[in-house]
Amino acid sequence: MIKEGIHFKEAGKFEETRFEKIHNVIFNSSQEASVLVAQEIANLILRKSELNELCVLGLATGSSPIKVYEELVRMHKEEDLSFKNVVTFNLDEYYPMDKDNIQSYFHFMHEHLFNHIDILPENINVPDGKVSSEDLQQYCIDYEMKIKSYGGLDFQLLGIGRTGHIGFNEPGSHINSGTRSITLDHVTRIDAAPAFLGIENVPRKAITMGIGTIRNAKRIVLLGWGVSKAGIIRQTIEGEISSHVPATYLQDHNNTTFVLDSEASSELTRVKTPWLVKSCVWTEELKLKAVVWLSELMGKPFLKLTDKDYNDNGMSSLLTEEGTAYDLNIKMFNKMQHTITGWPGGKPNSDDSHRPERSTPTKKRVIIFSPHPDDDVISMGGTFDRLVEQGHEVHVAYQTSGNIAVSNEEALKFAEISMALNKNSSEAANIINFLKNKSENDIDSIEVRKLKGLIRRSESLAATRYLGLKDSNVHFLDLPFYETGTIKKNNLSEADVDIMCDIIETIKPHQIYAAGDLADPHGTHKVCLDSLFEALKRLKRNDYMNDCWVWLYRGAWHEWDSYQIEMAVPMSPDQVLKKRHAIFYHQSQKDGVMFQGDDSREFWVRVEDRNRLTAKKYNDLGLAEYAAIEAFKRYYF
Ligand code: F6R
Repeated sequence: MIKEGIHFKEAGKFEETRFEKIHNVIFNSSQEASVLVAQEIANLILRKSELNELCVLGLATGSSPIKVYEELVRMHKEEDLSFKNVVTFNLDEYYPMDKDNIQSYFHFMHEHLFNHIDILPENINVPDGKVSSEDLQQYCIDYEMKIKSYGGLDFQLLGIGRTGHIGFNEPGSHINSGTRSITLDHVTRIDAAPAFLGIENVPRKAITMGIGTIRNAKRIVLLGWGVSKAGIIRQTIEGEISSHVPATYLQDHNNTTFVLDSEASSELTRVKTPWLVKSCVWTEELKLKAVVWLSELMGKPFLKLTDKDYNDNGMSSLLTEEGTAYDLNIKMFNKMQHTITGWPGGKPNSDDSHRPERSTPTKKRVIIFSPHPDDDVISMGGTFDRLVEQGHEVHVAYQTSGNIAVSNEEALKFAEISMALNKNSSEAANIINFLKNKSENDIDSIEVRKLKGLIRRSESLAATRYLGLKDSNVHFLDLPFYETGTIKKNNLSEADVDIMCDIIETIKPHQIYAAGDLADPHGTHKVCLDSLFEALKRLKRNDYMNDCWVWLYRGAWHEWDSYQIEMAVPMSPDQVLKKRHAIFYHQSQKDGVMFQGDDSREFWVRVEDRNRLTAKKYNDLGLAEYAAIEAFKRYYF
């Protein structure tokens, strides 16, 4: 049963790490990586059990370890992996916090792991969020002593916060700190806000194992997934040790591995600018990436880059391959130029050899998949508008109902209007009653969810009508994975994929647009994308799919890097205004929306800034100056 795990190599003693001070391994997906981490844990449990020893695990909560726990549960169920010899200590718990609160880490651990394995309840240790403040200090000392009494942690699993915290050791934490209570950083509270339905509900304090406690573990594995972690991962692996980024204290631990997916590793020097670290195989994509980087670094458009610029910045091998800077500059300029089109559905009756889309058929059937009811206009409102104006048969398919993002106050307004119109409506009366008496831990009733979903439907229809679409071309898929009434969603199921297959089979599109948002590995956008990828896999053998091209836009949070863009649709100032108005129809998502993240700008402001920035980047590379640009990358299936 012992299978390969992840091989540890001591940092500083092997290649690839001129910039790196922590051993790290990069995987294509967090799924693949999590299976290997679970395997390492399972191997340790087995080894200890053969020696008749206890296996002492330090465990983390949050989104990062979920798939590791899923795999451990699978191994328990399918491969008889037993946890009878396992003792666990969790890193942290909010303070104050009841065990039975669904936001508690106690609840999280039971839901994801403990309820599904044969661990002895007395071997489970999660800091108690209900200890009185007078007993808190002693409680923390006892927790620390209890870990020591087992001979310390054999293995510590970690995630990393955007502040660089491990456990809840926020910036400023001491290298020798032990288990203690701590005040949470504002950024950490913002990140936790969606789960608590608003930052005001997020506790201000927590109990956490210390940096010293963690560093005493014999083996440490830190998981980092998604582009939102890329910056802090780079600082931790490549920066100097500092209390400003507490995770850097792991640099001089002698058995730590960071397990990353490709997005989380994307800012590491060896990934972002490999030509600075080693000799490269110059693929076409890497060439463009490097030349865009050089142009940004030198503050010069493509056509002004010189041989010296290339040679001084680790790219002489590229020049050797491509000839002179002059030739290479022109080649890259043309490549970027050919991504620009005002005809996202293809330009009829024209040579399309250097255009991102085919000219035929001149009228295409198009599906725009929108994870929430508003991503369509936010992320590609300008392109959407052009597709309709240029006479294509455009359909919009809203994948989820988006009901969870409507506030109670907004829902109450509509319930009261409904009540005023129909005094006998028991449904409206129930909703009003529910909303007025709702407390923090209550999940919305089915009726309330239905109302919230309807609000988002009518907002969407208002926006799509404004862009000239008939109602019959607007489809509300209400994918079931989303309908839990809570932030935590179900896994993707057959039912979701069937719905996606159905709509594609019915419309037989020539173009599909979808949110290629990989930022949050557990977020709704990613699940929606997975549902599309799965549907494409199932349908790809059908003839009509040979004519189907898939274009990915990015969701509200990120944009493609310039070198990744394969279709750039420019917008005039008037089109920018039209897009803004389309977004305005999504009124429940305006002004202090529920899932704002750490960016206080409203969605329309954010996206205008983003589209303007893309246009500026194109212009800085030496291409024409536009007011704004929407960007897409093609997905080949
Ligand atoms: C959780 C913990 C935290 C998280 C970190 C990342 O027990 O101690 O340090 O690991 O905040 O959270 P996610 O994984 O949700 O991104």
